[in-house]
Amino acid sequence: MSALIIAIDGPAGSGKSTVARALADRLGWSFLDTGAMYRAITVEALRRELDVRDEAALAALSASSVVRTTPRVSINGRDVEDEIRTDRVNEVVSIVAANPLVRASMVARQREFADAQAVGTVVEGRDITTVVFPDATIKIFLSASLDERARRRGGDEEPASLARRDDADSNRRTSPLRVAHDAIEIDTTLRAVDDVVEEIVECLHQKTSS
Ligand code: DC
Repeated sequence: MSALIIAIDGPAGSGKSTVARALADRLGWSFLDTGAMYRAITVEALRRELDVRDEAALAALSASSVVRTTPRVSINGRDVEDEIRTDRVNEVVSIVAANPLVRASMVARQREFADAQAVGTVVEGRDITTVVFPDATIKIFLSASLDERARRRGGDEEPASLARRDDADSNRRTSPLRVAHDAIEIDTTLRAVDDVVEEIVECLHQKTSS
């Protein structure tokens, strides 16, 4: 039997990471934050002073780099956990993530990661339900109002910056953020994390017992 996968997509601040992490803990599964992978590549590109719009240079960087997201985010053995959410990274990560060659390299690793897990993986990002794991056990699309999403970022990212990133991620040519036709949509604006987690666990039980 192939590994179980809960695929979660949604815009920035929709609660994906918090919900996915809590869900993985609740189920005893692994967790993969794919946004952190694109952020780690972005940090390294900036450190090397590469032009983030240079598709070939970014492709070469991603193909030759080892990216880990657990226990902390690192690239080529360098811990970048504290560098991946700066304003500068927020500004340009969507450009890096729009590069089809970077995406191909990251998607292959995301699939390898899930394949290697003994029980199951909760994976979150923008194209997880549509491209990376279209056959996931269950697919979830989380949303929340823009104000609530900005509030959750604790003032770390302005609503205008979030909206710009949403726009770039939803309108790019390669693997844009979309609601998969068979995804379960959950608006988390007024919901507690545990409540959303329980709803997803219930969906999983229904799916795996049917
Ligand atoms: O989830 P996040 O904000 O950490 O993601 C950072 C950026 O990476 C986001 O602007 C979109 C991009 N991303 C993506 O294109 N595909 C993914 N699977 C995950 C993130």
